[in-house]
Amino acid sequence: MSTNNAIGILSVGHYLPNDPVSNDHFVNRGLDTSPEWIETRSGIITRHIAADNQHTSDLAVLSAQRALDAWSGDQTQLDFIIVATATPDHQGFPSTACLVQQKLQFDHPIEAFDITAACSGFAYALSIAYAKINAGLSQYGLIIGAETLSRLVDWSDRRTCILFGDGAGSAIVGPVSSGGFIGFNQGADGQASDILCCTPQPHAEQFSGSPYPAATSMIQMDGQAVFKKGTQVVVQSLRELMATTGIAIDAIDHVVCHQANRRILASVAKQLGIPFDKFIINIDRVGNTSAASIPLALCDAVGHEKIQPGDTVILVGFGAGFTWSSILLEWS
Ligand code: ACO
Repeated sequence: MSTNNAIGILSVGHYLPNDPVSNDHFVNRGLDTSPEWIETRSGIITRHIAADNQHTSDLAVLSAQRALDAWSGDQTQLDFIIVATATPDHQGFPSTACLVQQKLQFDHPIEAFDITAACSGFAYALSIAYAKINAGLSQYGLIIGAETLSRLVDWSDRRTCILFGDGAGSAIVGPVSSGGFIGFNQGADGQASDILCCTPQPHAEQFSGSPYPAATSMIQMDGQAVFKKGTQVVVQSLRELMATTGIAIDAIDHVVCHQANRRILASVAKQLGIPFDKFIINIDRVGNTSAASIPLALCDAVGHEKIQPGDTVILVGFGAGFTWSSILLEWS
């Protein structure tokens, strides 16, 4: 889909819990791995792990507060909150978005709901926000990607536990005077749902033996299949996005891709002929933070003034489901 409506991202904010946890941590805990293996195969050097008393909504609120502080408007103008997460505070309900609304002490009854599309969640949520605003149903939305993936990880499984981290990123979406969203391309392939999923693992180990609430299921991943599928859907989605918007790939200034593996990003860059230095990289410092991944990378780039008003930016997510979502926008 392509659009010329002036709706875009007005501000961003992020939050990373605690001090970074280095690759050495896994070796020190007796895991059969090495810092070099982790860095070479994934690009990850450190990640952040939430404190025992921090829930996904706490991370979400802290990132949202920063996005609100960076916005010229105020929270009384917001019409809805969407939280993209695979690790909600509660299985079932209430939604994490409602808990964010409570913790931000909203005194007006705006819409609040969660969506689950794994690592594509934030980009999916942006497209919902765009559709709601474009339809005239709302004016301003708070979109959050927040995860405490450390609670879904089996810390004795070296194939997965080294990859994931916790964090949150937020964006305020609404009418913009220049730039804004240009096009969206997204989809899902449920036939590939089994290559990355959460399954019951009664003997799984928790992080550092901490008293995290016992997870009912934990991440199971066919790493090579996810690598192949992720690369394939991102390349295809971006080709379709470029074709429907009529924008040449050379015109792209920055690619903010889900940070799952640095080698996936390099492969996507090569297949599409995009110089790798146009890819925003923060996987080395935060690992794979699923729905928080895109907003964390975006905040990093905006905070370091790499992304400037007028720049053409791609946001692209892919993840469990299998899901993908790519967005083209001009930074406002
Ligand atoms: N340390 C040391 N050795 C390891 C480790 C480790 N942490 N993990 C696996 N190995 C071993 C394997 O057991 C295997 O040994 P073997 O040959 O004796 O059997 C060997 O290393 C090679 O394993 P591969 O799985 O082939 O390693 P690969 O190069 O594919 O890297 C990785 C694994 C990093 C997981 C990679 O496949 C990958 O990143 N895949 C994509 C993952 C991803 O994107 N996940 C998130 C999706 S987003 C979401 O929705 C959450």
